Amino acid sequence: MNKPKTIAIDGPAASGKSTIAEKLANELGYLFFDTGVMYRAVTLAALRRLGNVRDEQAVTRLAERVWIDVRPPSKDDGRKADVLLDGEDVTWAIRSSEVDAHVSIVSAYPGVRAAMTRQQRRIGERGEVVMVGRDIGTVVLPEAELKIYLDASLEERARRRYLENKSRGMDANYDEILENLRKRDEIDSTREVAPLRIAGDAHVVMTDGLTIEEVMQQVRKLAHIE
Ligand code: CDP
Ligand code: CDP
Repeated sequence: MNKPKTIAIDGPAASGKSTIAEKLANELGYLFFDTGVMYRAVTLAALRRLGNVRDEQAVTRLAERVWIDVRPPSKDDGRKADVLLDGEDVTWAIRSSEVDAHVSIVSAYPGVRAAMTRQQRRIGERGEVVMVGRDIGTVVLPEAELKIYLDASLEERARRRYLENKSRGMDANYDEILENLRKRDEIDSTREVAPLRIAGDAHVVMTDGLTIEEVMQQVRKLAHIE
C-alpha cells in the first residue's frame, strides 16, 4: 500500500502529538511541523510588546506582521525544532507558564487563526509532511491522506507534562499543570473558529498506559510502515 503523503495529527495538550509526529516524520523522511509553536510565538510577542493579550485587534495586527520561522533543530538540548521570532531564538521562551496561560486566548482570535492557517497550508500542500495541531485534519489540511487523533486522560497528560518540565529543569507543579491543560482544552474545544474536534475520517488512538513505542506501533500500521 502507498504511504500517505500528508499526515495530520491532532489532539489535546500533552497527548504525545509532537513526540509521535517527530518519530513518524523521521521514519518516513518527511518534514515534521508543529503548528502549536506558531500560536505560542504570537502569544509571546503579544505579552512582550503589548504587555497582555486582551486587545484582539492589536494581537491580530501583530500576528500578521511577526516573522515566525521554524527550522530543524540546531542544538541537541531536547528541542524538536528551532523557533525564531523576528530572528530571535525563542524555542524555550515559548514554553513558559506565562505563554501556557495565555495561548488559548490568542489562538481563539479569528484573525490570528487566519494568518497562521495561511502559512500552515503553504507548508502542508507541498506534501511529505507530518503536521501537528488542533485543527489540522478538520481545517488546515482537510484533504490529508492520514488523520490521527491522539488522546489520553487529563491526569495522564498532566503527569507527562509534569515529568517533561521537571526533566528540563523548568518549574513543575502537577496541580497547576493539570489546571492549565484543563482550561486550554476547554477554550480550544469551545472556540467558534476551528475548535479542537475529531475529524470524521480520523483514527483515534487512546494512549493511556501506552509507551511511546506502543503508540508508534499503532501509528506505523496506519501509515503503512512495515
Ligand atoms: O504542546 P501542547 O499540546 O501543550 O500545546 P501546543 O500544541 O504547543 O499548542 C498550544 C496552543 O496553541 C493550544 O492550546 C491551542 O490553543 C493552540 N493551537 C491551536 O489553536 N491550533 C493549532 N493548530 C495548534 C495549537
Ligand atoms: O505534543 P503534545 O503536547 O501533544 O505532547 P508531547 O509534548 O509530544 O508529549 C508530552 C510528554 O509525554 C513528552 O515528554 C513525551 O515523552 C511523553 N509521552 C509519554 O510519556 N508517553 C506517550 N505515549 C506519549 C508521550
